Amino acid sequence: MFCRMVKFISCCLLTLISFSLGTAADQVILDSKLTQSVDQEIEKNRAEMIKIRRFLHMNPELSNRELETAKLIASKLSSLGLEVKTRVAGTGVVGLLRGTLPGPTVAIRADMDALPIQELNTFPYRSLNPGVMHACGHDLHMTIALGAAMVLSKVKDNIRGQVKFIFQPAEEGLPPDEEGGAALMIKEGVLENPPVRAVFALHVWPELETGTAGYASGYLMASSDNFILTIKGKGAHAARPQEGIDAIVLAAEVINNLQTIISRSIDPVEPAVLTIGKIQGGTKANIIAEKVEMEGTVRTLNDTVRDKIPVLMENVIKGITKSYGASYSFRYEKGTPPLYNHPDLVQALLPALESALGPERLVAVKPQMVAEDFALLAEKVPAFMFLLGVKSPGLASTAPQSLFQSR
Ligand code: NI
Repeated sequence: MFCRMVKFISCCLLTLISFSLGTAADQVILDSKLTQSVDQEIEKNRAEMIKIRRFLHMNPELSNRELETAKLIASKLSSLGLEVKTRVAGTGVVGLLRGTLPGPTVAIRADMDALPIQELNTFPYRSLNPGVMHACGHDLHMTIALGAAMVLSKVKDNIRGQVKFIFQPAEEGLPPDEEGGAALMIKEGVLENPPVRAVFALHVWPELETGTAGYASGYLMASSDNFILTIKGKGAHAARPQEGIDAIVLAAEVINNLQTIISRSIDPVEPAVLTIGKIQGGTKANIIAEKVEMEGTVRTLNDTVRDKIPVLMENVIKGITKSYGASYSFRYEKGTPPLYNHPDLVQALLPALESALGPERLVAVKPQMVAEDFALLAEKVPAFMFLLGVKSPGLASTAPQSLFQSR
């Protein structure tokens, strides 16, 4: 699976170059001698790639703290003869592979950070860092990108153009009061010098069988915005409600009415999710709560819907709190936009994906309402992110099969 992916990434990057050179999507054909050399290089590097992946898995680091990870990546890329920039957006690393022939630049992006989760696996290469784990598979993303660098650096005489390897910190979110992730990489010019014509990424996907890949042309993932809402009433004795304004009763009404935004005010064929994931209020069983605080997230696949929801939310909140004589504060923060896969690019890359995986291993997937900050790169240049199946054979799927449509 691992090696097939490196082959795919390598072929994709080569295909992307043809695509960027202006070859029509259905006419991009890779030289069979070149793909043979790619296969040979993959075999030569197989053991090292497995070693790298296990090392990364054993040494996970949290967002914006990927120091040792960055060191390993930078030294590997330098040893392959790439031009390497470190400390991009904090701990990020960017490697540039120059093909011998002139041409455009295409990029692959791999995220570097792990999650604050205690690993419970018992295999020998489990995490050595207590409470931190590569539970989102970014160790695999990095290894596949490094594998592609290892392979492509050996066939650079046949490469027309440049391949930029972008290793991005802090995809999982930022520590408080810090900048980072894709946004900061873009701000620091990762898509410039040389300018990137197309960018490409993958994410491991536990609902898809190992050896398969899921793709979507157009939207793959949702926008992700967050909000904090505080409802302020008036405390009183529980037995004397007429003297207070019950923030808990108000909150219940607000929560139910916020859900009607999705069910009654948004076009039912436009996906949208509003979830309140945290709520806190009151102090004691016999006191009417003065204050309730809640936090939530809004996901959409459409910018018009995305802009409309916070306005509708505030109308609901304002109307209900006013009718009870209460007040509120509402902070709505826009996060990542929806992730859009450029249809022409998807079309151009599907044959490479199919040839690397084997026939009938490609699955068309519906858009997912999770989010990825790769969407920010995809806003700037044509992009393609696909989902790499990592479900072990025989294990039950953790998601309904109806999520996926056979191609
Ligand atoms: Ni992830």
